[in-house]
Amino acid sequence: MSQQQWTAVDQYLTDTLVPADAALDAALQATADAGLPAISVSPNQGRLLHILALSHGARNILEIGTLGGYSAIWLARALPPGGRLITLEADPHHAEVARANLARAGLAEVADVRLGKALDTLPQLAAEGHDPFDLVFIDADKAGYPGYLDWAAANLRVGGTVIADNVFRRAAFPLPNDPPAAADGIRLFNETLARSGRFRATLLPLEDGFAVGVKLR
Ligand code: SAH
Ligand code: DHB
Ligand code: MG
Repeated sequence: MSQQQWTAVDQYLTDTLVPADAALDAALQATADAGLPAISVSPNQGRLLHILALSHGARNILEIGTLGGYSAIWLARALPPGGRLITLEADPHHAEVARANLARAGLAEVADVRLGKALDTLPQLAAEGHDPFDLVFIDADKAGYPGYLDWAAANLRVGGTVIADNVFRRAAFPLPNDPPAAADGIRLFNETLARSGRFRATLLPLEDGFAVGVKLR
């Protein structure tokens, strides 16, 4: 299929599967109005995050890379009563926009936006002590992906799910103005996910590639 045909198919899928939703639409609008980049996951990716969280019965979810909270809303809406989402964001303005969007979606009590670089916050989280996570969604700086995968391997329950966005393009060809560390990070992430023996994983052609893996041991 050509790019134009793919775009038409993607629109068809969104129209068919993803109904208009006031809180999600408002979150995207507020994210754009606040001047944040248009790099939220797509509606179809959001729906897959939601479905995977539901199908795993996820009660404890960690997200790395909040932006305006669009993917966080999809994930948090899959939580059962008493469930919890922690989402990590390095940029204070992004975190503020996300908190407002999550509050507007009625999720202020279940979603905890933690400000700071994930590589600093993750060891703190591990040290605080917490139930093992059921699902970890990685969507922050690409150079950090291998470290985030190591953290997921250590802090997910066996049978838990790791998901990561943007695992395709950098792995296959250089992007303009992209630091080489980002491409190296994505390649090492994919290789480790495929070959460490700790996950059973696949890479789905959704937007710029969605990795989905189940922790085996
Ligand atoms: N998951 C979001 C999109 C995330 S975009 C959604 O789909 O709605 C990536 C986000 O990661 C940006 O907001 C960026 O500020 C944040 N980020 C980048 N480096 C980070 C780091 N080291 N730690 C935490 N967040 C980081
Ligand atoms: C960028 C980051 C993302 O997570 C994404 O989905 C698209 C682009 C970026 O940093 O440019
Ligand atoms: Mg992304």
